[in-house]
Amino acid sequence: MVKSSKLKNVYGNKTVEDQKQIYRDWAKTYDIETTGEFGWIGFTPAAAEFSKRVIKKDARILDAGCGTGLSGVALNKEGFTNIHGKDLSPEMLEQAEKTGVYSSLSEVDLTQPVQTFDPYDAIFSCGVFGFGPPYPEHLHHIINMLKSGGYAVITVNGKGWVEKNWPESLLTAVEEHSLKLEEQLDIEYLENEEIDGKLLIFRG
Ligand SMILES: C[S@@+](CC[C@H](N)C(=O)[O-])C[C@H]1O[C@@H](n2cnc3c(N)ncnc32)[C@H](O)[C@@H]1O
Repeated sequence: MVKSSKLKNVYGNKTVEDQKQIYRDWAKTYDIETTGEFGWIGFTPAAAEFSKRVIKKDARILDAGCGTGLSGVALNKEGFTNIHGKDLSPEMLEQAEKTGVYSSLSEVDLTQPVQTFDPYDAIFSCGVFGFGPPYPEHLHHIINMLKSGGYAVITVNGKGWVEKNWPESLLTAVEEHSLKLEEQLDIEYLENEEIDGKLLIFRG
């Protein structure tokens, strides 16, 4: 049972346009509400696991769905210095700019294929997948931006994992796009909502 009415709305059936509007309206209060009220901490264990695998601190990293930059700040605290943020919402990106941890920021819609001429050494995506959109069938849009052999570390909301039957759709996505899913871990995620997270670790 989700306590916050805001989260109930975010977890409802949404279109990409709905998501754009939700995050446009939420950008200025997102950090305080999520980390304060909901106990949003998923970016900390996810960044720690990322850091165990991505050894070079100057690796060129994509933070896919960077939002206001909580995820980029968590990566920076782990010592990473070459972080590039992409997000659907220009208003969230505006907030991310203020963190000062991103080497570049730009708009993206991860439900669509993304052209990359210069693939990333590693990819981090935190808080983006779960209920969707984007859905498991869009995971390959992210992995396609990764260098061969690189790591993509992606969280999935544990409530969405169950309610949206991720085990089945993830398997389909992995098989259809020959994704290299190396590990699957449980992490702390939304503490005050008692929602855990899954951490998916892919190789390019
Ligand atoms: C819960 S926030 C997570 C933000 C940040 N990574 C964090 O750890 O706090 C989800 C982010 O995903 C972005 N998002 C939602 N749908 C997207 C899409 N189709 N393409 C790219 N970003 C999307 C939203 O704009 C929002 O900033």
